[in-house]
Amino acid sequence: MYKLVIQGGKPLKGTVKVAGSKNASLPILFASILADTPLTLNNTPQLSDISTTLRLLMSMGAEFILESDSSLFVDSSTLTNLVADYDLVKTMRASILALGPMLTKYGKAKVSLPGGCAIGTRPVNLHLQALEELGATIEVKNGYIYAETKGLLGANIHFDQISVTATENVIMAATLAKGTTTINNAAQEPEVSDLCHCLNKMGAKITGINTSIIIIKGVEKLEGVQYSVCPDRIESATYLVAAAITRGSITVKNTNPQVMRAVLGKLIEIGADIKTDKSSITLDMKGKRPKAVNIKTSTYPNFPTDMQAQFTALNTIAEGHSTITENIFENRFMHIPELTRMGAELTLEGNTVVCKGVKSLTGAHLMATDLRASASLVLAGLAATGTTTIERVYHLDRGYETIEEKLKLLGASIERVQD
Ligand code: UD1
Repeated sequence: MYKLVIQGGKPLKGTVKVAGSKNASLPILFASILADTPLTLNNTPQLSDISTTLRLLMSMGAEFILESDSSLFVDSSTLTNLVADYDLVKTMRASILALGPMLTKYGKAKVSLPGGCAIGTRPVNLHLQALEELGATIEVKNGYIYAETKGLLGANIHFDQISVTATENVIMAATLAKGTTTINNAAQEPEVSDLCHCLNKMGAKITGINTSIIIIKGVEKLEGVQYSVCPDRIESATYLVAAAITRGSITVKNTNPQVMRAVLGKLIEIGADIKTDKSSITLDMKGKRPKAVNIKTSTYPNFPTDMQAQFTALNTIAEGHSTITENIFENRFMHIPELTRMGAELTLEGNTVVCKGVKSLTGAHLMATDLRASASLVLAGLAATGTTTIERVYHLDRGYETIEEKLKLLGASIERVQD
C-alpha cells in the first residue's frame, strides 16, 4: 500500500494542466455500449475509476486499446455477457451507468446493486423508477438488479430529486427507445451536457441540453465517433484551493472557467485575485491569509458537493468563522475528525460544520476515507507545519491523475512511498 508524505508550508507557484473530467468520461465510456461501431475518446484522465470501467466493459465482452496516455479506442459494440458483476461494481458506484445502455440495446441487463459508501447510503431508486416508466420490468434479488424489456418506449419522466447519474442513465436508455422521452428536473451538471453532446455526435437526438428539461427523441441506432471529453472542473478547483491554502499563485490550464462560477466566486470571497480566459484560470493570494467563507452545497450551477471537503480544509486556516453545510450527501464529513487531529477547530452540527479558523495546522498521520475527503487532507498537509502522512492513497487515485507529480511541479514537497 502506498502513502503520501508531505512537508507542508510551501506556497504553490507555477502552472498545472488538468486532465479530462472523470465524471464525464465514465458515462461516455458506458455510452459506448449503445454504439454499433467503436468509439475513440480523447482527453480521458488516467485514473483507477477509468480502468475499473474498462475492466467492467471487458468482462462484458468489450475490447479497448489505449492509443496514448489520454486517448482510448473502445469497442463495446457487441457484448456477450450482459452482467455487471459485484466484484467490480462494489469498487465504483458509477457502474450503475451500465444498466440503461445494456437494457435499451439488448433488452436485458443484470447489474449488481452498488451498496452504500463512505459518503452515504446512495440508493438507486430514481434510476430504477425512471427505467420502469420507460417500460422496463425490474426485479431486485440476491444483491442484483435484473432488468428486462421487449423494447423501451419514450415517456414523460419527472425526478422528485435531482440525480446526476440517474439523469445520465435515463438519457442513455431513451436514445434507443421508441418515441420521445422528456426528463423533468434533470441534473444540469456540465458532465451531463458533455454526455449529451457526445451522444448527439453518435446520432442521438437530444435537446434541452444545459437545462432542467431534457428531451430525447429515440433513434434506430448510434455509431461510434471520435470525441474529446470536457476538462475536469473538480480537479481544476482542487488545485486552485491548493494554491489558496498555501498563499501561493498558480495558473490552471486546459480548464473551463465558465462552468466553475460558484467555486470561483467563493475563491474571490476568500481574498484571491482571480483572472480567467477561455481555458485557463490564474489565482494569486499575494501572500495573504485566506478569509473564511460560508459554503452550502447544492446541485449545478450552485456550489458542488465534490468541493465541500477541500473548502472545509481551506476554512480551517482562514481568518474568521464559517459554516459549511452539506445538502447532497448526508455523511460526507469523514475528513472532519482527521482535520481536527491537525489542530483544526471544527464542530459538526447535523449537516453543518462550524469552523473557527486557526493560524496554522500541524502535520499528522492521517487516514484517507473517500476521494474528495482525501483531497482535503492533502490540501491541509500542504498548508500545515511539519510532516503529514496520508494512508490509503488509492482513494485519491480514483479521481486525481498523478496528483503528487502535479503538486511537485508547483513546488510542493510531496512523495508517494510504499509501506
Ligand atoms: C454524481 C457524481 C459525484 C457527485 C454527485 C453529486 C458521477 C460518477 N458522480 O454522483 O461525484 O458527488 O453526482 O453531484 O458523476 N439519490 C437518491 N436515489 C437515487 C439516486 C440519488 O436518493 O436513485 C440521492 C443521493 O443519495 C444523493 C442525491 O440523490 O443524496 C444526489 O446524488 P446523485 O446526483 O445521484 O449522485 P451520483 O450521480 O451518484
